[in-house]
Amino acid sequence: MASTEDKAATNKENASSWKDTFYNPRTGEVLGRTASSWALILLFYLVFYCFLAGMFALTMWVMLLTLDDYVPRYRDRVPYPGLVIRPSSLDMIVNKSEPLKYAEYVKQLELFLQRYNDTEQETNKECISGNYFLQDNAEQMEKKVCRFKRDSLSFCSGLSDTNFGYSEGRPCVLLKLNRIIGLMPRGNPYINCTVKKDSQIQMQYFPSEGLIDKMYFPYYGKKAHENYVQPLVAVKLLLNKEDYNKELAVECRVEGSDLRNNDERDKFLGRITFRITVVE
Ligand SMILES: *[C@@H]1O[C@H](CO)[C@@H](O)[C@H](O)[C@H]1NC(C)=O
Ligand SMILES: *[C@@H]1O[C@H](CO)[C@@H](O)[C@H](O)[C@H]1NC(C)=O
Ligand SMILES: *[C@@H]1O[C@H](CO)[C@@H](O)[C@H](O)[C@H]1NC(C)=O
Repeated sequence: MASTEDKAATNKENASSWKDTFYNPRTGEVLGRTASSWALILLFYLVFYCFLAGMFALTMWVMLLTLDDYVPRYRDRVPYPGLVIRPSSLDMIVNKSEPLKYAEYVKQLELFLQRYNDTEQETNKECISGNYFLQDNAEQMEKKVCRFKRDSLSFCSGLSDTNFGYSEGRPCVLLKLNRIIGLMPRGNPYINCTVKKDSQIQMQYFPSEGLIDKMYFPYYGKKAHENYVQPLVAVKLLLNKEDYNKELAVECRVEGSDLRNNDERDKFLGRITFRITVVE
């Protein structure tokens, strides 16, 4: 009998000491610490975290001070550019008898070419073809832009043929390289497009031979080179009736230079493949 009473007493004692670890009414301790001890700990952490935040803000501020708005800080390795197509569709279906359907492509091209209008370009500089347009003089923060003549795109300029060839079933696409700061391609880059499989399709390039003039390089960055426009190459697919109703896979690459166009992992690096079907 006595042993069971003892057991009950120990249980009670255990329970009360367990409760005491949360709050001990005799000493006034919460979780084993007095209120002033807790206050000191909280104060310590408050000061500690304020100090950390201050350090972070200070280093950030110092780093931002050393940044130059005009010159990118790290550019030890200039990457290669991707090739981009307009209209921005990799799978085009053109019914040359339905203007309302292909109007979307025509509108995209017209909008895209706004920046290449003579009115926009006349303030730009007439550069020397075939040479890089280097402007490394430091006092000149704002870089000049080389003029691109919209009418050098000829039948694909949207000026003589406002339908960019879509109404006659011989559509134009525009190609450009992505902007890369400091890129200076060696050689004489040009665009070459081929149709996959054995279809022989004639194509016309504007400017002639699909050349990308070196005078549009290097690009100096968004802020320094504000009105920069990329040089364009237009490709007109000279399709005939027997080419209609076939899905043509056209691959365009930048060739003739050190720009990469055969990266296994990135199929847009210096090249692009799009599909186009023309029907009537
Ligand atoms: C193209 O449009 C014309 C005129 O609307 C239509 O008669 C024809 O069936 C269309 N062709 C195809 C392949 O959808
Ligand atoms: C660009 O030229 C086209 C055709 O001449 C014209 O319709 C358009 O309004 C011009 N855009 C600008 C921004 O000047
Ligand atoms: C364009 O590419 C095709 C296929 O690679 C090649 O046969 C042709 O010679 C190239 N044309 C030019 C002008 O480089």
